[in-house]
Amino acid sequence: MKKKVIFFEVQGGSDKGSDGHRKDTMPMVNALIDKGYPAEVVFFDVARLDEIYHYVKDNAVAYVSRINPGNLHGEAQYFSMLRALCEDGVIGMPHPDAMTGYGAKDALVKLTDTSLVPTDTYAYYTMSEFFYQFPKALLLNERVLKQNRGSTGEGIWRVQLAENVPPGVTEVPLSTKIKCTEATDNHVEYWKLGEFMLFCEQYIIGDGGMLVDMPFLPRIKEGEIRLFMLRDTPINVVHKKPAADADAFSATLFSGAQYRYDPPILWEGLINDFLSQLHTVKEKLGNYDLPLIWTADFILSDAPDGSDDYVLGEMNCSCVGFTSELSLAPRVADEIIACIKEREQLKA
Ligand SMILES: Nc1ncnc2c1ncn2[C@@H]1O[C@H](COP(=O)(O)OP(=O)(O)OP(=O)(O)O)[C@@H](O)[C@H]1O
Ligand SMILES: [Mg+2]
Repeated sequence: MKKKVIFFEVQGGSDKGSDGHRKDTMPMVNALIDKGYPAEVVFFDVARLDEIYHYVKDNAVAYVSRINPGNLHGEAQYFSMLRALCEDGVIGMPHPDAMTGYGAKDALVKLTDTSLVPTDTYAYYTMSEFFYQFPKALLLNERVLKQNRGSTGEGIWRVQLAENVPPGVTEVPLSTKIKCTEATDNHVEYWKLGEFMLFCEQYIIGDGGMLVDMPFLPRIKEGEIRLFMLRDTPINVVHKKPAADADAFSATLFSGAQYRYDPPILWEGLINDFLSQLHTVKEKLGNYDLPLIWTADFILSDAPDGSDDYVLGEMNCSCVGFTSELSLAPRVADEIIACIKEREQLKA
């Protein structure tokens, strides 16, 4: 009897349909069953940790994690359980450390020696690192600061100088007036650099706290390009164009960006460039198997020879949804089956 593919969900949360599941879960489960692979959903509940762990260990060939981090109580225990299951030989889709590795903002910093991320991209885990580097970086160009927690542009700030700095300085003085635009809604605030940096302490402290600092890419005006990936295959492209007003740089829906769904063929240059470096990306992020369903977001920039470069802005892989395109479910099921077969061949 074949072992099962187990999908982890949690009860509750705004991502659930009337049957209590994420809308994209049962289509995957049913597609697997149609193809002859037993599959079921297990609701993670930290109070039943032991029981769940043993059930999955004994019954699953693979797990697929479909839990939105915002709905998850007992994240640390969930991740340790997934890690243990992977060690027991259950195929992790994805491995918990891949989930955090790809999804955390500082993934970018691990990729600065690829052409996907500018070399002057930094991560700050302490206020002293932040105060040491950021005023120097800001002297050279406009910056975008990104907090790790939160989404939809909260705590993502474009930072520009709002006055000239004295000639000959090697870093922007902390008393300098700066213009800060937040990606949630493109609203503008003026600050003194030092005071703004103190305000940013909230993003650095606590679990998973960090700020990533990268150059502002003005061609964001032309849009952010999201590749929706099934393991190593880009199957959809979303082009997100920020609102037209002067300060708008955000590609989030709430900020007024326009979304367009493109066939991958329109973005062949980007896709070929990314796929040619995927092996390196995987290696730099800990050499885990590529996540089953994940996204990579790009912004255009100018290469030295005048051609287009594509800069990676962020990746997501915790629980990327495809509720608006449920017809993808059989393809996802095929990909899951392919993973299982690859693992069987490795063992043979
Ligand atoms: N380096 C950059 N240059 C220009 N614009 C940028 C840059 N980085 C991010 N942005 C803009 O800010 C927006 C939010 O940034 P990002 O996607 O990193 O944060 P997020 O809050 O995690 O968003 P999401 O909800 O997509 O996960 C992007 O969609 C993009 O429009
Ligand atoms: Mg984003």
